[in-house]
Amino acid sequence: MKLWGGRFENQTDKAAFDFQSSIHVDRRLYREDILGSIAHAKTLNRCGVLTEDETVKVEMSLNEMLQDIEDGKLQIGMEHEDIHTFIEATLTERIGDLGKKIHTGRSRNDQVATDFRMYLGTEVDLLVELLKNLEEALISIAEDNLDTILSGYTHLQKAQPLTLAHYLMAYFEMFRRDMERLLDAKKRIMIMPLGSGALAGTTFDLDREYTCQLLGFNDITYNSLDGVSDRDFAIELASDLSIIMMHLSRFCEEIILWASGEFGYVEMDDGFSTGSSIMPQKKNPDVAELIRGKTGRVYGSNMTLLTIMKSLPLAYNKDMQEDKEAVFDAIDTVKACVDMFTGMIKTIRFNKDRMYEASEEGYTNATDLADYLVKKGVPFRETHEISGQIVNFAIKQNKKLSEITVENFKRFSDLIEEDIYREISVETCVNARNLIGGPAREAVMKAIERGKEFLNEEMGDVKK
Ligand code: ARG
Repeated sequence: MKLWGGRFENQTDKAAFDFQSSIHVDRRLYREDILGSIAHAKTLNRCGVLTEDETVKVEMSLNEMLQDIEDGKLQIGMEHEDIHTFIEATLTERIGDLGKKIHTGRSRNDQVATDFRMYLGTEVDLLVELLKNLEEALISIAEDNLDTILSGYTHLQKAQPLTLAHYLMAYFEMFRRDMERLLDAKKRIMIMPLGSGALAGTTFDLDREYTCQLLGFNDITYNSLDGVSDRDFAIELASDLSIIMMHLSRFCEEIILWASGEFGYVEMDDGFSTGSSIMPQKKNPDVAELIRGKTGRVYGSNMTLLTIMKSLPLAYNKDMQEDKEAVFDAIDTVKACVDMFTGMIKTIRFNKDRMYEASEEGYTNATDLADYLVKKGVPFRETHEISGQIVNFAIKQNKKLSEITVENFKRFSDLIEEDIYREISVETCVNARNLIGGPAREAVMKAIERGKEFLNEEMGDVKK
């Protein structure tokens, strides 16, 4: 069925009709389209277009339709152009001519923007929930590893000792910002365009604030042209999704490195690894690799949206129909990735001994040796030089700093005493960094507390 036959003398080419149809993509908006139509019917009743009786009939039939679709009793017919056409056609099939009144004062242009925004609002809540699960998993692993020492890196070269808890909480911070970004984007998603009509509003006196309230939007749009042609909210969401994937991808890259024989810091659970068809010894971190790979796909969707919108004159253009496929794919991908990642990180085994050993290699305590001398009154730039010379000496002797005798230390600075060994142990290196945001046990415990508070408060907001 088509909604626009009147002006036409000849049939649409079948291939062209199929080409421009979007029902295979926008079918998932059925719920929003039905709820939006019920609210629109009630608003039409308020301004006298529909009688009380008619409104009740329309509402009942639409509710039934929703139930039937959900129960699988009503199939969404792929011969229809889009979901809006299908819902209107089915309504008319079920209640006769009255169904033909539902599109009064409405266009598919404001309808699709409304449906799309409602759908994304719900998806944002689901995404935030999934991120919350991930955050809780990170906190719980961090709590078990407040004293698990590993080396931190810069330039992928050993830098300074940290704890695994501190490391995991760095990712916690990233996902916390992601949750905030999503919830902030939701404020701009939940704005109702209905009443914008095709582009110039409508001659019917629709109480848009009433419709807005019925549908649970935060506010209405204030310009009908912008109302139908704005897709900023979708682009913003896709950007936020891209950032989430970037974070997941960094984490995955790290896990892939750590799972290599060269690092040996982690072992993936069998449930999240696969083997090789030819090399019997292999256990590959496929899930992490695939999440890293799917990042490209989400970035692609983001770029698709920006490119679709970049030259569109006001107001609606059919180009915009391409928006949904990109956003839906990005959302589906991110949801699956966050969920998979959470399962993977919960089951991963950390090789603490290997991490500890590695943290003692590579002179990760050289800064602490320099700091030791600063505390004895030598300016840092000089202590940096002295520590560097000692590292050079140690490399030549094939020794760790902790294996150098006091006598040998004194060749570089006679301020170095017996207490040096305690001061440059990796445990001291970590726990002496007890400032806010540092890796010391106490500092990380505070960060975890802050994290927990955030999760409790934030989820309160989502439910609102
Ligand atoms: N399927 C369309 C879309 O998703 C609905 C709006 C169609 N409007 C129009 N004037 N053709 O964009």
